[in-house]
Amino acid sequence: MYRKILVAFDGSEPSKHAMDIAVSTADKWKSELVILSVVPRVMMPVFPDEGFGAAPITAAQDMSEYQDKMKEIYAGSLSEAEEDINEAFPDLVVTTKLMEGRPSAVIVEEAEEDQIDLIVIGSRGVGGITGWILGSTSRRVVESCTKPILVVK
Ligand SMILES: Nc1ncnc2c1ncn2[C@@H]1O[C@H](COP(=O)(O)OP(=O)(O)OP(=O)(O)O)[C@@H](O)[C@H]1O
Ligand SMILES: [Mg+2]
Repeated sequence: MYRKILVAFDGSEPSKHAMDIAVSTADKWKSELVILSVVPRVMMPVFPDEGFGAAPITAAQDMSEYQDKMKEIYAGSLSEAEEDINEAFPDLVVTTKLMEGRPSAVIVEEAEEDQIDLIVIGSRGVGGITGWILGSTSRRVVESCTKPILVVK
């Protein structure tokens, strides 16, 4: 029924719950499982080309180092999750994808391009300072994606 399932993983508790449900659903339907993590891009401010000349260049380097570090951290959690699943469900076909960009946009694009039959996503994520039931990523995905979506609390 679901040939290919995508789970959006940001390491948060709700996304771990989403992962559990995605794994058991994929196991039940013999689906392929794609685990997608998106490293949000650090926003680049506009640097003045005069005035505090040296500082902006250092700041830009710091930001790109920070971005690389974030990517490493995401990659580590992603392969840890993949190993755990491979161990518990050796017959399951699992692929991981690490991308950069705006998480909601990348999730929707990937679901379209990768011909995903079901998206599994947490209701909230690692952000979450407001009292909303859905975070901004899950809300945007629910609003803009035409695929079936399972939102997990
Ligand atoms: N960077 C990401 N990569 C992959 N999936 C993500 C990412 N960020 C969020 N998600 C998915 O979306 C779900 C909801 O997270 P969301 O970002 O909407 O909530 P939040 O972090 O609590 O709120 P906000 O980001 O608006 O402050 C997560 O459980 C996860 O499934
Ligand atoms: Mg978030």
